[in-house]
Amino acid sequence: MLGVLEYPLEIFRFTQGGFRSRFRYSSTLEALEKSGINSSAVEEVVGGMVYKAGVKGNPARQIQLGAGIPVLLQQSINCAVRPYRRLGGINVKKVVVLGAGTMGAGIALVTAQAGIKVILRDVSESLVQKGLSIIEKNLNKAVEKGKITAEKKAETIRNLIGVYDSEQFAEELQDTDLVIEAIVEKMSVKKTVYKELDMKCPEKTIFATNTSALSISEIASATNRSQKVIGLHFFNPANVMQLVEVIAGASTSPETIDLINDFVKTIGKVPVQVKEAPGFIVNRMLVPMINEAACIYMEEVASAEDIDTAMRLGANHPIGPLALADMIGIDVCLAIMETLYTEFGDPKYRPCQVIKKMVRSGFLGRKTGKGFYQY
Ligand SMILES: NC(=O)c1ccc[n+]([C@@H]2O[C@H](COP(=O)([O-])OP(=O)(O)OC[C@H]3O[C@@H](n4cnc5c(N)ncnc54)[C@H](O)[C@@H]3O)[C@@H](O)[C@H]2O)c1
Repeated sequence: MLGVLEYPLEIFRFTQGGFRSRFRYSSTLEALEKSGINSSAVEEVVGGMVYKAGVKGNPARQIQLGAGIPVLLQQSINCAVRPYRRLGGINVKKVVVLGAGTMGAGIALVTAQAGIKVILRDVSESLVQKGLSIIEKNLNKAVEKGKITAEKKAETIRNLIGVYDSEQFAEELQDTDLVIEAIVEKMSVKKTVYKELDMKCPEKTIFATNTSALSISEIASATNRSQKVIGLHFFNPANVMQLVEVIAGASTSPETIDLINDFVKTIGKVPVQVKEAPGFIVNRMLVPMINEAACIYMEEVASAEDIDTAMRLGANHPIGPLALADMIGIDVCLAIMETLYTEFGDPKYRPCQVIKKMVRSGFLGRKTGKGFYQY
């Protein structure tokens, strides 16, 4: 038993979390609609407002999480819906996702699924299309598995616009609340992009970088709004993984941190707070483990399959380190190791030669069809 459910937003969090597959209420809208809240109120919740809901009946039977969600949804709550508080001072209604690759597509999907308008941008029309078609495939799979309805899929797609044209993109930026950047993991490229964004975006726009290991403060230094620049580190695949690391740079304001934490919860994820440090929490531990697995492979101590089987069955990991490297992208793994190595100056973070060689050969994992495994 986790507690008593008081607000629709919490229904949303739980339906987006572990309860989703169990009860097949895949989205805020679906869950809230089933709970009897009228749809205009539902949309307001999705848009980031929290409403207090009065629950009819015996308080002792009020939605105790664990047993509660089906009780809540089946017994029909009478929602005396009224505005409760605004999240983080502003409502995040429109988000630009920069980069339609592995991470950008997933981030755009979860954001659009939460009822927020999303502009997905990449450097070519075909890359934007590729990102959109990955999103559609994911939505189709979710419909097939009964995780979401066909209407939910259609609604999510309606919230998504792919943009390549520079003029149209500059226009879209004008009323954007939040830019989530998921482009290549290179400081020089990121800084150039942020400098340009800073000139084109209104003052209110928050910049969140999905960097895996780079300094948020250094990225922020390319702008004149360092208090509004923050790290927002999603995990791969972004539409599945629950965690998001929220990383404050040296000048990130408490208001920005609050707003981003609320945003993360609104899209059904769980935030953890991190002070800026190379690799944050997860990658500082995870990627050196992958690097070590690559060294074991390079030294021919064991095959890729056996290394992965060993960690799955011996350490109870859901996926082996080399299969995970292919999923993350070998180039991304190398970039993270290089950041850890240069930032800490400690040889224990030295990137494995085989990883360097694979990147030079274009064997970047799943995204290029070849990595430690063939796809
Ligand atoms: N792959 C992972 O598992 C993972 C996990 C968490 C964080 N990250 C981080 O997310 C970011 C993106 O990683 P990815 O794996 O999605 O990379 P990716 O190579 O799959 O995609 C990056 C995309 O950004 C595009 N791009 C480059 N410059 C751009 C620009 N100026 N404007 C718009 N788009 C641009 C590229 O064309 C490409 O489509 C990196 O910072 C990475 O470290 C990756």
